[in-house]
Amino acid sequence: MRLIELSTLALFGAARGQAGAGGAAMMRFACSQLVTERLDPLVNPGVVGTPHVHQIVGGNAFNASMEPVAYDLPSQSTCTSCTFSEDLSNYWTAAMYYRARNGTFQRVQQFDNGGLVQKGGMTVYYIPPYDGVSKVTAFQPGFRMLAGNPNLRDSSGQTRGVCHRCFEGDNFEPFGGAPCTGNDTSRFPDHFCGGGIRTQVTFPTCWDGKNLDSPDHQSHVAYATIPFEPYYDPIVGRPYTPSLERGKCPDSHPVKLPQLMYEVMFDTRPFNKKELWGEDGSQPFVHSMGDATGHGTHGDYVFGWKGDALQRAIDARCSNDRCSELKRQSNEDAMKCIIPQTMKEDIGNESWLETLPGGVMIN
Ligand SMILES: *[C@@H]1O[C@H](CO)[C@@H](O)[C@H](O)[C@H]1NC(C)=O
Ligand SMILES: *[C@@H]1O[C@H](CO)[C@@H](O)[C@H](O)[C@H]1NC(C)=O
Ligand SMILES: *[C@@H]1O[C@H](CO)[C@@H](O)[C@H](O)[C@H]1NC(C)=O
Ligand SMILES: *[C@@H]1O[C@H](CO)[C@@H](O)[C@H](O)[C@H]1NC(C)=O
Repeated sequence: MRLIELSTLALFGAARGQAGAGGAAMMRFACSQLVTERLDPLVNPGVVGTPHVHQIVGGNAFNASMEPVAYDLPSQSTCTSCTFSEDLSNYWTAAMYYRARNGTFQRVQQFDNGGLVQKGGMTVYYIPPYDGVSKVTAFQPGFRMLAGNPNLRDSSGQTRGVCHRCFEGDNFEPFGGAPCTGNDTSRFPDHFCGGGIRTQVTFPTCWDGKNLDSPDHQSHVAYATIPFEPYYDPIVGRPYTPSLERGKCPDSHPVKLPQLMYEVMFDTRPFNKKELWGEDGSQPFVHSMGDATGHGTHGDYVFGWKGDALQRAIDARCSNDRCSELKRQSNEDAMKCIIPQTMKEDIGNESWLETLPGGVMIN
């Protein structure tokens, strides 16, 4: 509990009252691991054994081909690994591996996030505009998108709000502050992180209002000219002043969406030993797509909330993982929702792999 309060405090400072009633509320909930495998119905629909391993959470209707609209997630799913039972969406990110000096790989396990109870998986946020009154339009059935760029290997062309936080201490510090502020980096941290690494993926908040998807899964959405999350201003000790400029969308993408954000906690602590890092002191972590830099972080989203549940929850400015508008299942039930791999293979949870799954080389 303490950590959740800490996060709320750190993000919003003393501004609850100033922002207007409910202005600071945002949904923040745990999703446990549904399955970890080489499937990607967004980028490679129909393919079993896609180029790299993903860690997937959400509704159990997840499969290799999920045709927009026709494949209706809420009616096809019988459970979800996320806290809110009406959320049958799927969310996924790349897996992380440790590369030993002898060149073999083992998967870096995940852990829970600041007091939320979950098994692997990630924390999902839906953030409404900070002014406390503006409306956003929830995603439509069939909507999907991708944030970040799996092919990126340096900070050029880096996407806003996609980065890593090094927890210096073992109690999630620094915990507060918006993603990609402070010492957060687009590359993997270059020193031991006493509390592990939190990877953060922030999605665009402006939609063209027409297309549920686009060929690159990105151009139907755009980032706002100024983000509307309550970015914390360390100098004045409170969030930046809300203004109408916040969350302003480009003319090409006029429809304001909720701010979707993922946080994935990687337990890199077992590897905090000099002899386990490179001979030259270089950091040993790689993404499942062969990215040894960290810049290739990306997240995928396929919307699948039941009916208007998400719209109601956002309009009601629901906060954290309790919401009068939504059904909440127990953490235990969420953790029970798992599916077997379609692409059956050893993904290196415990064994040492000669190559990354799929034979991916460092690139
Ligand atoms: C995905 O699920 C649908 C509906 O159950 C099914 O028709 C389809 O064959 C599945 N696709 C794959 C690749 O498993
Ligand atoms: C490679 O290194 C890892 C980590 O040090 C070790 O556990 C594993 O046994 C090694 N494998 C081989 C084939 O030497
Ligand atoms: C960034 O790192 C420096 C050096 O370790 C530290 O003094 C500073 O407090 C950190 N800033 C934040 C916002 O965590
Ligand atoms: C480890 O990998 C297997 C697939 O080989 C998967 O079923 C299992 O859930 C994984 N365990 C963890 C802790 O992720």
